[in-house]
Amino acid sequence: MPTAILGGAMTWVSEHNLVAAISNAGGFGVLASGSMMPDMLDAEIKATKALTDKPFGVNLITLHPRLLDLVDVCGRHGIGHVVLAGGLPPGDAITRIKDYGAKVVCFAPALVIAKKLVRSGVDAIVIEGSEAGGHIGPVSLNVLAQEILPHIRDVPVFVAGGIGRGEAMAAYLEMGAAGVQLGTRFVCASESVAHANFKKAFIRAAAREAMPTMQVDARFPVIPVRAIRNAAVDRFMEMQRAVVARFQAGELDQQAAQLEIEHFWAGSLRRAVVDGNIEDGSLMAGQSVGMVTKIQPMAEIIAELVGQAVDFLEK
Ligand SMILES: Cc1cc2nc3c(=O)[nH]c(=O)nc-3n(C[C@H](O)[C@H](O)[C@H](O)COP(=O)(O)O)c2cc1C
Repeated sequence: MPTAILGGAMTWVSEHNLVAAISNAGGFGVLASGSMMPDMLDAEIKATKALTDKPFGVNLITLHPRLLDLVDVCGRHGIGHVVLAGGLPPGDAITRIKDYGAKVVCFAPALVIAKKLVRSGVDAIVIEGSEAGGHIGPVSLNVLAQEILPHIRDVPVFVAGGIGRGEAMAAYLEMGAAGVQLGTRFVCASESVAHANFKKAFIRAAAREAMPTMQVDARFPVIPVRAIRNAAVDRFMEMQRAVVARFQAGELDQQAAQLEIEHFWAGSLRRAVVDGNIEDGSLMAGQSVGMVTKIQPMAEIIAELVGQAVDFLEK
């Protein structure tokens, strides 16, 4: 990869403007494709290319029903790095990406999985701690880094989650990371198209307000998502309690109850990022949100991070 700072793909936020801004500023932008269909991804890649001649990557969700078609779109555009997120990557997707000559980047939530991914031909790994914004695993980056960095030497490993300053970036490089991936710190870039209300919520929030969603009943699992606490988070807890009560009263079967819980957040990130509805939407953010204090041009954010890292290393 050309540089050590990856822009973590953020659905609705990491569209062409932000991605091009990251790559133009010397980082490596990654487009979030979310649930996009191939024609839309094609348009996003074209729009990004119109704003930058620097390389950038594309993040694809492994559960997407048209994953292989999306890979083909990346292939037609000569995208050099494809990041596969959201579960273990299927072998055919890895092969298809490598066959057109690109590098495959995957997330590893544990050392055994990192080793397995390396064996299956993955070119780089991202380890993302629970400090991160969005969907998270249970383990902090502090621990994942110690568990994984000393043992994965054959491919570059990037670290993510809770990184808001250059000193932390440099410290992880010294521990053996090839680079870092940041999401939250880039949301309030001037070039980011996130709604002004979404950005204001980031600027106002302290680290402790970026909390994982919680489940109220072990029978109804909830995938933890770290987001700034708002009215929707409180309603989610109440809704879960109400659904469990209806299940216990025999009004809902287990599957219907689970679906109702899972459906709650559908469309909620778009509501917050695009529409600016910060009470009903999801304010996905990492704990590093406390270090986001103003709207700044991307070049300034990256220069600040690099400056802090260099000062730290020269001390
Ligand atoms: C608003 C938001 C949306 C995100 N959406 C995605 C996504 O669509 N795919 C993905 O792989 N990661 C997603 N992430 C995770 C980021 O790519 C990145 O790994 C994470 O933000 C890094 O941690 P940090 O927020 O503490 O910097 C998202 C994060 C945020 C804050």
